[in-house]
Amino acid sequence: MEIVEKVAHIVRQKMLQDTSGHDFWHVQAVLNNALMIAKCEDDVNITLVSLGALLHDIADHKMGFSDDECRACIHQILNDLGVEDDFIEQTVSIVLSVSFKGGKNVNVVSSLEAKIVQDADRLEAMGAIGIARAFAYGGYHHRTLFDPTCNHNINPNCDTISHFHTKLLLLKDLMHTQAAKNEAQIRHEFMLEFLQHFHAEFEGRI
Ligand code: ADP
Ligand code: NI
Repeated sequence: MEIVEKVAHIVRQKMLQDTSGHDFWHVQAVLNNALMIAKCEDDVNITLVSLGALLHDIADHKMGFSDDECRACIHQILNDLGVEDDFIEQTVSIVLSVSFKGGKNVNVVSSLEAKIVQDADRLEAMGAIGIARAFAYGGYHHRTLFDPTCNHNINPNCDTISHFHTKLLLLKDLMHTQAAKNEAQIRHEFMLEFLQHFHAEFEGRI
């Protein structure tokens, strides 16, 4: 079995049960996005992109892991499969730089492979899947769908609709690669249309 398939199998076992928006199928969709983006770029290491995508949420800050714990987790998985240290470190560097870090992206994304995985993960927070994930996350954190008394542009945690205004609608301008920029524009417009419908329905504009 090829290394990417082996890692996919391990990640699937570890992440299948998650209900916070970081289950294996999120990982699979990020991998799909990343491969789609990579096709449009020159000189990409596809194995590195694939491993970065598969492992990008394996030990994330949101789940309480530190950078060191994340590094150790990735080393353990890839070491056991005989991957060379240098390649493991390149994978770790992608995973650490891709993290949203609660919205504050403190790690600089430098390699093309890291940019591709970050674009792929950001695309997953947009469009139809992004909308579904936002409300799943809101429910998981006992947040209301929509509260008209919230200041949606300022308070990110008031209700789930505020997450669109404080984060999701800003993502299209953060894409690095051209393929992701194109796709982000489509997903952005879909979210705007969703919000228009949402407010019209709430106000009884029928
Ligand atoms: P990722 O898996 O891309 O690292 P996050 O862990 O930051 O993303 O978030 C997981 C999903 O939950 C994303 O789709 C994100 O938009 C959504 N999410 C994160 N924070 C909130 C929030 N405060 N309200 C609603 N959805 C959120
Ligand atoms: Ni993710």
